[in-house]
Amino acid sequence: MSKKPATPPVKTQPPKGSASGTAGLTNVATLRANARKNIDKGAITGTYAADKATVIKLLNEALATEYVCVLRYMRHYFMASGMLGDAVKAEFLEHAQQEQQHAHSIAERIVQLGGEPDLNPDTLTKRAHAEYKEGKDLRDMVKEDLIAERIAIDSYREMINYIGDRDTTTKRILESILAQEEEHADEFADLLNGWIRK
Ligand SMILES: [Fe+2]
Ligand SMILES: [Fe+2]
Repeated sequence: MSKKPATPPVKTQPPKGSASGTAGLTNVATLRANARKNIDKGAITGTYAADKATVIKLLNEALATEYVCVLRYMRHYFMASGMLGDAVKAEFLEHAQQEQQHAHSIAERIVQLGGEPDLNPDTLTKRAHAEYKEGKDLRDMVKEDLIAERIAIDSYREMINYIGDRDTTTKRILESILAQEEEHADEFADLLNGWIRK
């Protein structure tokens, strides 16, 4: 490959009225005018590139999943007993609180997008990806929780891939939740492997 001849640096002047001095970006006057249109839409401006209705629908499914996970973890927390019970109990409670926090972030984002969080308990388990499994003993509870986390991991990854860069805020929220679901799954996989080796 031949090297390009060195060209002297050219001092480029930012386009007049440019927002950031970078060519290709909207100029200040247009940016200001656009912001004044549809102010009832709050944080959602004309440059929002995703299909909002679909994103809200996906977020509501994730919200249902998180609440089913909160309930399952709380059930496991109260029912855990036996030798390892106390240590695993703490884990169940921590996960329940973290799933609640995930639900909180998702519900907030739904409202920001102009949607409504669906918290109807009558249809919760049907709308959730993960299942509400009580588990017959401590090990069974951990196994069911690991399965639920693996379901959540796959569904969050699919959502992130679907949204891509069309809604970077939602994508970032889902990415941080996914990272925590992976931690949850990893903790339970370690626990189960420890039991299997014994
Ligand atoms: Fe979660
Ligand atoms: Fe989780």
